[in-house]
Amino acid sequence: MSNSSTPPWKHVWITGASSGLGEHVARALAKRGCIVSITARREEQLAAIAADFDHMFIYPADVTDAEALKLVVAQMEEQHGPVDLTIFGAGASFSSSATELEIGNFAKTLDINVMGVTNALDAVLPHMLARRAGHISWIASVAGYGGLPISPPYGASKAALINMAESMHGKLKQSGVTLSLINPGFVRTPMTDVNTFPMPFLMEPEAAAEKMIAGLRRKKFEITFPWQLVWILKVLNLLPYWLYLPIIRRVI
Ligand SMILES: NC(=O)c1ccc[n+]([C@@H]2O[C@H](COP(=O)([O-])OP(=O)(O)OC[C@H]3O[C@@H](n4cnc5c(N)ncnc54)[C@H](OP(=O)(O)O)[C@@H]3O)[C@@H](O)[C@H]2O)c1
Repeated sequence: MSNSSTPPWKHVWITGASSGLGEHVARALAKRGCIVSITARREEQLAAIAADFDHMFIYPADVTDAEALKLVVAQMEEQHGPVDLTIFGAGASFSSSATELEIGNFAKTLDINVMGVTNALDAVLPHMLARRAGHISWIASVAGYGGLPISPPYGASKAALINMAESMHGKLKQSGVTLSLINPGFVRTPMTDVNTFPMPFLMEPEAAAEKMIAGLRRKKFEITFPWQLVWILKVLNLLPYWLYLPIIRRVI
């Protein structure tokens, strides 16, 4: 019997769950009774998180390894039933400046952030399409709305994820699969702990996880927070480039 705090998903698969946003949303969903399967590379971290719950299970893998993810999905569905919801959060940021390009960092960032999501999608989507049911989500970022001077590879990878979600939403919906796009602003996690630039409206990961779950329950297409930063960036991105570029250069 479900009540208002019981989520509509029995089995959730989360990538990037060994720390940060993925870990916090995994914990929040497990506390609500979902079976949660978690993936990332660091097996020890995954095991330590799963040890707090009797219905959280670890499937260590690198999201750049497409074949490994197919195996992971086959195993988790055999062991715990169909995956109802995915949250693809595995991500990384390797920097490069515009004047001293670090090509290897572009390749690594795009491989993990864009191909990592695509590989995970490829592993789970055929199962959902066969059932004509399921809810896919992935984490992009407000940094993908428009170019920001802070990290070209990261911004480009997140813009690609936003564009991919916009492209795929309609066809997936017709096929019975819901797609949600999660665009956080700044959230306190190991990824942002190393940032040296100002992070306006920084959120705590527990609050971010609650926003994600609330938006997923409502099957929203875009789930984004905190609203203050989101709206500033959305409005700036409506401006013509002759206004947008000098403003963004000055404020970030
Ligand atoms: N924090 C923010 O302000 C913010 C804002 C917007 C978007 N995001 C996005 O939110 C997601 C989570 O980031 P976070 O802030 O929570 O950072 P985080 O704590 O560094 O988490 C990143 C997660 O991705 C996993 N990961 C990285 N490379 C991987 C790979 N090749 N294969 C499998 N897993 C991999 C990491 O685990 P392993 O190292 O164990 O593999 C870790 O679990 C990322 O996509 C990030 O871009 C974060």
